[in-house]
Amino acid sequence: MAADPRFAAWAAGLENHLDRVLPAADAAPHRLHAAMRHAVLGGGKRMRALLVYASGTLLQADEATLHAPAAAVELIHAYSLVHDDLPAMDDDDLRRGKPTVHIAFDEATAILAGDALQTLAFEHLACSDAPALLRVEWLATLSRASGAAGMCGGQALDIDATGTQQTLDALQRMHALKTGALIRAAVRMGAQAGAADTDTLARLDDFATALGLAFQVRDDILDIEASSEQLGKTAGKDVAQAKSTYPALLGMDGAKAKLEELAAAMHDALVGHGARADALHALGELAVHRAH
Ligand code: IPE
Ligand code: IPE
Ligand code: MG
Ligand code: MG
Ligand code: MG
Repeated sequence: MAADPRFAAWAAGLENHLDRVLPAADAAPHRLHAAMRHAVLGGGKRMRALLVYASGTLLQADEATLHAPAAAVELIHAYSLVHDDLPAMDDDDLRRGKPTVHIAFDEATAILAGDALQTLAFEHLACSDAPALLRVEWLATLSRASGAAGMCGGQALDIDATGTQQTLDALQRMHALKTGALIRAAVRMGAQAGAADTDTLARLDDFATALGLAFQVRDDILDIEASSEQLGKTAGKDVAQAKSTYPALLGMDGAKAKLEELAAAMHDALVGHGARADALHALGELAVHRAH
């Protein structure tokens, strides 16, 4: 399936929104603001934001309402990358084809930029134009997915597992938290904007769970098969740092077979939605087949 024709317009709307949400580069503290803008603007596939728009659209939510959760999840994601790249974590110097924030600025600024991006995400949701109940639902969804029971918890498991051989169950749990949690939150926030019922939320969560795992399995495969130029980040890091990954545990063929299994699960979860699910189907395909 080709990329949905709406993706370019959604991504452009998001970019514009993020540019306005981020603190101005010419306001003090300049270095912090510049680092935040460096981390967020002009790069990234915007997969999590596109998932917000795609699931919101499935439920016929008003598109203008979706900018706030789409921006918020990308702010959290960008912060997670700034911290993931720090010397104390993955120690990376290239991200989205540019020097990482601690290289372009300095470590203290990178830590603070990550902190400030995280709080900006929640401030932006809390202060959006959406009805108060919806704002609280979004805040609960995104904060839970970002913390110890979500992305941060998964990053902690990743660090604990480095240099060890995990069981398949433990590896799946780690991926589900470090990458899956934010992806699930993106789909859920879009669905919440469309006032989805419990059953629809559960089916969409099945879709997002499969997509989130597929996204990280593909990331682990690309780390081996793609070049740094193609990825815009340093390739070959996982083997070099003895990271626990799907290809390391199952071999490349086993990891690719897992992706096919997850593609089928995504498809099954969307049965019954017809053409309204086209954008979600296309994002599922992208997660499985992306080249960067
Ligand atoms: C990279 O995420 C980190 C993972 C969770 C695998 P993306 O591949 O979505 O990074 P960007 O946003 O496109 O740069
Ligand atoms: C990223 O996992 C997880 C995050 C929560 C940021 P990776 O460490 O594999 O991501 P990349 O490969 O550096 O983008
Ligand atoms: Mg990492
Ligand atoms: Mg990393
Ligand atoms: Mg990776």
